[in-house]
Amino acid sequence: MKTYKELPKDAGSNIIGQVTAQANRISTRLASVKYTIAIMSGKGGVGKSAVTVNLATVLTLSGFAVGVVDADINGPTIAKMMGVRNTSLEYVESGVKPATTSLGTRVISMDLLLSDDDAPVVWNAHTQKDAFTWRPTMEVGALREFIGDTDWGELDFLLLDLPPGSDRLPNVVELIPNLSGVVVVTIPSDVSHLIVKKSITMARDILKVPIIGVVENMAFYVCQHCGEHEQLFSADDTSFQQITLGKIPFDPKLSLCNDNGTPYVHEYPKSLASKSISEVSQKIQDFFNI
Ligand SMILES: Nc1ncnc2c1ncn2[C@@H]1O[C@H](COP(=O)(O)OP(=O)(O)O)[C@@H](O)[C@H]1O
Ligand SMILES: [Mg+2]
Repeated sequence: MKTYKELPKDAGSNIIGQVTAQANRISTRLASVKYTIAIMSGKGGVGKSAVTVNLATVLTLSGFAVGVVDADINGPTIAKMMGVRNTSLEYVESGVKPATTSLGTRVISMDLLLSDDDAPVVWNAHTQKDAFTWRPTMEVGALREFIGDTDWGELDFLLLDLPPGSDRLPNVVELIPNLSGVVVVTIPSDVSHLIVKKSITMARDILKVPIIGVVENMAFYVCQHCGEHEQLFSADDTSFQQITLGKIPFDPKLSLCNDNGTPYVHEYPKSLASKSISEVSQKIQDFFNI
């Protein structure tokens, strides 16, 4: 494979022109969005997508216009969790129309572009090795197109559900330099906190992105027999207490709702977990003085 240094100038691709055009397209698109928030954590499986889906639903039910970008290109789950998996995307002159849930939340996900349940995202390249090396670059390219090509219309909030890994936020900040803030999701274990600390330092000190706060997911479990709150995990580390937006309990119904594509906060609005997610939503609004 030739490296870019061996190519004559840009080999006629006008790569800088292309990237600049797309960056301009993103900023034009996002001009109609009031607040863009990334939902992140260093680790997978802590509930980023579950929190994103329910937060988006609470904000929608509160009367805000909300969009969700499933930025987990290789492991997209948002379309399933929001019950829009079978939507065919509509392509219009102004771009792609996002899928819309029955409650009105707008969603764009790689999952909506894949044909079958078992179809993985395959990055085409000359060899597997090339595909592996280029994958992160291709992922950013796909995300750039997602955000740049989607006709969101006017939005109050655009939530980006990031894939696991603390290296993901820099890519997003490159695409969206004026990101409004970051919500970090963790579970109360020292292992998860360790990674989250790195993510927070990266966001706050290196990328200079406002940290809205930390959501502690699966914080406890309510015994179905005696109603006692029992710990699922136990962290000694209490360093996020000052910036905690809420503690969401583990609720088997929440997982079921995610699997069924029926947002939990809408199905069980009076539950403890729904109250906690509503508090998180309120604190986010307080953060932006709305
Ligand atoms: N508070 C919770 N109670 C019950 N199940 C949960 C809760 N939070 C997340 N889950 C479930 O845990 C699994 C992982 O959550 P997910 O949101 O996919 O994590 P991530 O996006 O961080 O990888 C999913 O099956 C989800 O439904
Ligand atoms: Mg996820």
